Amino acid sequence: MSSLRLLFLAALAVSATAQNRTTEAGEASIDDPVAECVPYNYPPVTASKTSFPPIWSPATTIVAGDSAAMATFSAMSSSIPNIAPRGTLMGNFSNVSYPATDPDCWWTWDQCTTPKISGLANDTATVPEPRTLGFGFDDGPNCSHNAFYDYLTSQNQKATMFYIGSNVMDWPLEAQRAIVDGHQICVHTWSHHYMTSFTNEGAFAELYYTLQAIKLVTGVTPTCWRPPYGDVDDRIRYIAKQLNLSTIVWKENSEDWEFGSVAGVTNQTVYDNYAYLVSNLSAGTFNTAGTIMLTHELNNYTMQTAIDNYPKLRAAFDALVPIAVALNITHPYAETNYTMPTFQQYVSNASASASASSASAAAASQTPGSRNGGTSSQQPQVTVGLFMFALTMLASASAVLA
Ligand SMILES: *[C@@H]1O[C@H](CO)[C@@H](O)[C@H](O)[C@H]1NC(C)=O
Ligand SMILES: *[C@@H]1O[C@H](CO)[C@@H](O)[C@H](O)[C@H]1NC(C)=O
Ligand SMILES: *[C@@H]1O[C@H](CO)[C@@H](O)[C@H](O)[C@H]1NC(C)=O
Ligand SMILES: *[C@@H]1O[C@H](CO)[C@@H](O)[C@H](O)[C@H]1NC(C)=O
Ligand SMILES: *[C@@H]1O[C@H](CO)[C@@H](O)[C@H](O)[C@H]1NC(C)=O
Ligand SMILES: *[C@@H]1O[C@H](CO)[C@@H](O)[C@H](O)[C@H]1NC(C)=O
Ligand SMILES: *[C@@H]1O[C@H](CO)[C@@H](O)[C@H](O)[C@H]1NC(C)=O
Ligand SMILES: *[C@@H]1O[C@H](CO)[C@@H](O)[C@H](O)[C@H]1NC(C)=O
Ligand SMILES: *[C@@H]1O[C@H](CO)[C@@H](O)[C@H](O)[C@H]1NC(C)=O
Ligand SMILES: *[C@@H]1O[C@H](CO)[C@@H](O)[C@H](O)[C@H]1NC(C)=O
Ligand SMILES: *[C@@H]1O[C@H](CO)[C@@H](O)[C@H](O)[C@H]1NC(C)=O
Ligand SMILES: *[C@@H]1O[C@H](CO)[C@@H](O)[C@H](O)[C@H]1NC(C)=O
Repeated sequence: MSSLRLLFLAALAVSATAQNRTTEAGEASIDDPVAECVPYNYPPVTASKTSFPPIWSPATTIVAGDSAAMATFSAMSSSIPNIAPRGTLMGNFSNVSYPATDPDCWWTWDQCTTPKISGLANDTATVPEPRTLGFGFDDGPNCSHNAFYDYLTSQNQKATMFYIGSNVMDWPLEAQRAIVDGHQICVHTWSHHYMTSFTNEGAFAELYYTLQAIKLVTGVTPTCWRPPYGDVDDRIRYIAKQLNLSTIVWKENSEDWEFGSVAGVTNQTVYDNYAYLVSNLSAGTFNTAGTIMLTHELNNYTMQTAIDNYPKLRAAFDALVPIAVALNITHPYAETNYTMPTFQQYVSNASASASASSASAAAASQTPGSRNGGTSSQQPQVTVGLFMFALTMLASASAVLA
């Protein structure tokens, strides 16, 4: 390894520790994705870890001694529809025999979104406003998301973020950023497994502890969730409903998460899916109702692809809005002091600020460290910063050696 490369790595390490990793604003100002993803200690999470299931393990049971969770589960357990768990946590349904009539409205079977059991609301898979895209991202908060969230902010664009409970516990300051930036947070389960495979208690725990984690870290209690892989049936919908969670799936699929992990899904596949969305729009497919596309805050590829395709979507659709905004849900959380704009308010603000945004972007580029600055304008800052750290390292190394 060249000494220049060593110096570069040393500079990275120092710049990571030099950041203030105790506040949302401090964490949001880190430009380097490697530094962003160095774990940090957030005392409220550390103090509560034993009240939660192990991070990234399937939440198969209520945490021992959690009487509040047990009381909430007991209140619903006798009325949960009598539908058996199916398949494996990883979605192997090869052993499952299931009637073609789809008695349980199992999305994985035939993309059913209209429950068979009365009292359950239809899933949200499209949005009522014409030529509108319900804009959202699964699997966050990702530790390396600052470039992506900076970009959304530079476009004055809000989205619906479907957060995984385990990621919220690992990256609490990143979860807080969603609220600060004006995005909507929904639940995406504790450990991201196939929900119809869990027992009633397990399905409850996957949702309940994600709600608790988001509340602990951000202060809000979401009212919506998205099943990983879309895997939901009337039993799981019922459990979600008892936790005041409405079910949001999707109609279009970018397949972005499959790039690099599923054979046959290439970069071209993903870009084509974005292009089809726009050509379908031009063909009139969304003239009476808009749609929702599955996209992810999973890794650099999915976030960068969302950025690269954003201008096309923004130019083509009449509106790109968080799901709550598309549905005029102005109070997206149980805590009623948080509000989101109505669809009309969002759209008129977006068009009013469209011309102003190029001016403010230019202003932001002259304000180093500005929260609203675009990533490209911050790039020279990183380089200068690293170089300075490298010099400091060199200076202190020679001091030690001396
Ligand atoms: C980080 O920022 C917070 C809030 O501004 C401040 O209270 C704290 O002392 C800072 N920590 C460090 C290590 O600078
Ligand atoms: C699914 O489970 C069956 C056994 O029931 C097994 O034969 C098959 O290999 C599994 N498939 C995958 C993809 O693991
Ligand atoms: C399928 O059923 C067989 C026999 O009951 C069992 O051994 C196997 O683990 C099951 N596989 C899956 C994926 O459920
Ligand atoms: C649910 O969807 C079905 C099929 O599209 C529709 O007929 C029904 O009116 C919807 N129910 C509600 C409450 O919107
Ligand atoms: C669901 O919302 C209702 C009405 O606001 C509330 O009384 C109830 O406690 C909530 N249930 C849960 C599990 O939070
Ligand atoms: C995917 O394709 C786009 C458009 O051709 C290109 O800009 C981008 O760099 C490609 N990404 C990868 C990871 O190949
Ligand atoms: C959009 O276009 C693609 C490719 O032409 C097609 O396969 C798909 O069914 C269309 N989707 C909708 C909702 O019209
Ligand atoms: C977050 O994104 C980075 C790439 O930028 C990736 O290496 C990492 O695995 C992601 N983290 C999670 C928890 O998905
Ligand atoms: C993806 O990684 C490249 C190379 O490190 C970086 O320039 C870009 O900002 C990253 N994109 C996002 C959205 O994080
Ligand atoms: C949202 O509210 C506007 C009026 O402000 C109305 O025109 C529109 O139909 C509403 N949309 C939904 C989905 O309720
Ligand atoms: C909402 O109220 C809660 C508790 O009453 C408080 O902690 C929180 O800061 C408030 N949030 C806003 C945005 O006003
Ligand atoms: C309206 O636009 C301004 C920027 O032009 C932005 O600061 C503000 O957050 C937007 N408000 C809403 C409700 O989107």
